Amino acid sequence: MGDQADEAAGGTWSEENSATFLDIGRYAVPEREVQIDTICGLIAAQGEPRSILELCCGGGLLAKALLERFPAARLLALDGSPKMLEATRAAVGEVLAARLETRLFDLASDDWRQAEAAPQAVVSSLAIHHLDGPGKARLFAGVLRMLAPGGLFLVADMMLPAGEGATRWAARAWDDEARRRALEFDGDLAGFERFRDDGWNYFSDPEPDPIDQPSTLYDQLSWLREAGFAEVDVFWMKAGHAVFGGRKPLA
Ligand SMILES: C[S@@+](CC[C@H](N)C(=O)[O-])C[C@H]1O[C@@H](n2cnc3c(N)ncnc32)[C@H](O)[C@@H]1O
Repeated sequence: MGDQADEAAGGTWSEENSATFLDIGRYAVPEREVQIDTICGLIAAQGEPRSILELCCGGGLLAKALLERFPAARLLALDGSPKMLEATRAAVGEVLAARLETRLFDLASDDWRQAEAAPQAVVSSLAIHHLDGPGKARLFAGVLRMLAPGGLFLVADMMLPAGEGATRWAARAWDDEARRRALEFDGDLAGFERFRDDGWNYFSDPEPDPIDQPSTLYDQLSWLREAGFAEVDVFWMKAGHAVFGGRKPLA
């Protein structure tokens, strides 16, 4: 870890953020297992993919699920954090790693979007909110260009609520979910307390970290449509988080 890693992550997400997220992610991500299953199920419903691209793979839970579910697929997993790429390789394990490639990248940059391979699916979980609105719209257009015809783009992320009441509701719903997960996993509230004390609940933070730039779900669906995606839809939503996406038209 060093300057190069900070630069790759846009100078914002640090290796300290990676360590914190690896520690509290299991409490902080609402219905994480359901989100992962939703993404895998939607890809399976399109047929067996040969190539999948994951943007910001983090600790590797989604990467592992994808490689297990799709035995014929190769996965290119990108992240700006060396610590996260190491965590992904460890989570996936030696056997599945034969079909995994990990690489450092900057989500905001255009260079990796010029890649020639055309994946059947591009996925990302809890990361695109690090881009501002125009950055998201540019990313969506770039992903459409990269995908194979008929390919899926599926995003799991935190959404900006459309109003103050909805923000207060999302704040409470996220706390409730983190509390529930801590009790379910550990039988105590220590995990929830770490989530709360680290200020992880964007919706209840009066001065949210500028590293987080969520957009409304409505805006993101509109940017997908504007980019040229078809079948744009929302597949799951809870506590201010959603899984949404679209399909690249066949022609
Ligand atoms: C909240 S974590 C989510 C990790 C994982 N996808 C998950 O759902 O558990 C955000 C991830 O995005 C990565 N990240 C943040 N900003 C980035 C950037 N500009 N370029 C590349 N990776 C970035 C971080 O390194 C981290 O792995």
